[in-house]
Amino acid sequence: MTMLETAAELATHERPPAPLRTEKFRQSRPEVVGPDCPEPPFPISLSGAVRKGFGRGGKDLGCPTANLPDESLPPMSNVTQTGVYYGYAQVSPYNKEGQKVLSEDDTVVLPMVMSLGYNPFYKNQQLTAEIHIMHNFKSDFYGHEMRAIVLGYIRPELNYTSREGLIEDIETDKRVALKSLARPEYEKYKSDLHFSLLP
Ligand SMILES: Cc1cc2nc3c(=O)[nH]c(=O)nc-3n(C[C@H](O)[C@H](O)[C@H](O)COP(=O)(O)O)c2cc1C
Repeated sequence: MTMLETAAELATHERPPAPLRTEKFRQSRPEVVGPDCPEPPFPISLSGAVRKGFGRGGKDLGCPTANLPDESLPPMSNVTQTGVYYGYAQVSPYNKEGQKVLSEDDTVVLPMVMSLGYNPFYKNQQLTAEIHIMHNFKSDFYGHEMRAIVLGYIRPELNYTSREGLIEDIETDKRVALKSLARPEYEKYKSDLHFSLLP
């Protein structure tokens, strides 16, 4: 397997089609993933201003995602595969104009799942890093600075014959992420200095 390169470099390569999700895969998914302590290449710190995706995540899948700009992806070149990752994220309360528009409970460090890939179900041509923060935000936060620490890998990116299959796997991803983060060596990243930079 080759190392992931920058988004721009990857886009120029031929890539094999994503495997189709099977019933056997669904039944064999573990509830906790990764070692008890994050191992290299994790932790991976990311930051950037949240940009708009196609908007299908919230509408079609009941799972809104915050996309990171391409310039924030180089740290992910240390991972060897596209797929679903887990960790923590934090959103700045300030919008692009410098106005404070998010309340305190929206801006604490929160658990997240991240999809890094081409979303084969939607046949995207470009690599994206989409973060779903497990929290009910009261408003959108496009343009806000977002910080994230990726701590582990959950599963490869798959293709689906139905939207329901994808939704079911995303729900499992969220559960797996929460259980995997509920270990002391993972929880301590909530107070990492990467997050304390935000006011
Ligand atoms: C945790 C998680 C797992 C995902 N897994 C897959 C996947 O295996 N295959 C896929 O095609 N898309 C996957 N997606 C991406 C969704 O297809 C994507 O969020 C959707 O295209 C919405 O993007 P948009 O808001 O840019 O429209 C995943 C998204 C999340 C948040």
